[in-house]
Amino acid sequence: MTTAAIDTPDLETRARDRMQVPKQPEWPALGDAEKTALKDRIKQLLREQNAMLVAHYYVDGDLQALAEETGGYVADSLEMARFGTESDADTLVVCGVRFMGETAKILNPEKRVLMPTLAATCSLDEGCPAGAFSAFCDAHPDHTVVVYANTSAEVKARSDWVVTSSIALPIVEYLHAKGEKIIWAPDKHLGHYVQRMTGADMLLWDGACVVHEEFKGFALDRVRRLHPDAAVLVHPESPDEVVDQADVVGSTTQLIKAVQSMPNQEFIVATDAGIFWKMHQLAPEKTLIAAPTAGEGATCESCAHCPWMAMNALQNLEQVLRSHDQEIHIDEAIRQRAVVPIQRMLDFARERGIGARRDSD
Ligand code: 13P
Ligand code: SF4
Repeated sequence: MTTAAIDTPDLETRARDRMQVPKQPEWPALGDAEKTALKDRIKQLLREQNAMLVAHYYVDGDLQALAEETGGYVADSLEMARFGTESDADTLVVCGVRFMGETAKILNPEKRVLMPTLAATCSLDEGCPAGAFSAFCDAHPDHTVVVYANTSAEVKARSDWVVTSSIALPIVEYLHAKGEKIIWAPDKHLGHYVQRMTGADMLLWDGACVVHEEFKGFALDRVRRLHPDAAVLVHPESPDEVVDQADVVGSTTQLIKAVQSMPNQEFIVATDAGIFWKMHQLAPEKTLIAAPTAGEGATCESCAHCPWMAMNALQNLEQVLRSHDQEIHIDEAIRQRAVVPIQRMLDFARERGIGARRDSD
């Protein structure tokens, strides 16, 4: 396994310098009556526009609840993509981050795709600019290009396969069995985990998730000693030292299923804190402990909550349903190229029954 030496360091360095991790947004607190009235107005707007909410597990619990109350869906990135294609809504309102809205639009060009804010991006997407990535692929023409869903439409358009954390392992296993060498981008931690599990020949782009990279192995080890009967659940965007302590490594849906199905009473969870809403809903009797993001006295940038996911709120959801000003548009030539590797992933998932909707739905 090799970590990619970036062939165009200037471009890459500039992209990293430009990336600003935003502060956690502070939304004005809403009283119960105010919140109910706001939710009622959103429900009405959704009905009037035949619009459907699709929310990720990391967004605020009020948004997840509203998606479920209004016939929408709360899911991981793979299921969000599939749900969009199955829905007969005219408008999809994606509560999550920009690559999720873009994937919805790539798969459903005839639908309007809105987001509460288009500013909700992702450190993996930001750290993989299309120009530098394309040059890197050009330098390794004998490699199959596999990109994580957390990338721009342009980067997907340059790839052979798109994967999410739910399906990365079986797809790379499949390619490795065919003797293919792989370029993997952008998450080096997930890439390294997949490489270790499959033994595939992989060149890794040097990207990371600012949220999962903060989980620390030594601090997790201390918490495990305090809770020796707890199962440790880890999202594979986390560093090796954290993954190595896990009882279950998996996508958000796989971690939620683990809380429901494992006999343990306590769980230490190394992923974005937004996931606790769904875990509590499906397994209210279980005790959930947030994995530590740093040792004593250390600081954390995100403190286990994605600052871009946190940009989604009831307030800007209502605004976008009125103004339609946060709409995803994708150049048609790029869309036509990007849809191929995404559809390849969805077909692979369907043929092998991977990532089917939760039994509880
Ligand atoms: P999932 O596909 O597991 O939901 O992950 C998406 C993501 O952005 C994790 O940080
Ligand atoms: Fe991107 Fe990390 Fe936020 Fe997921 S949690 S959207 S990978 S920055």
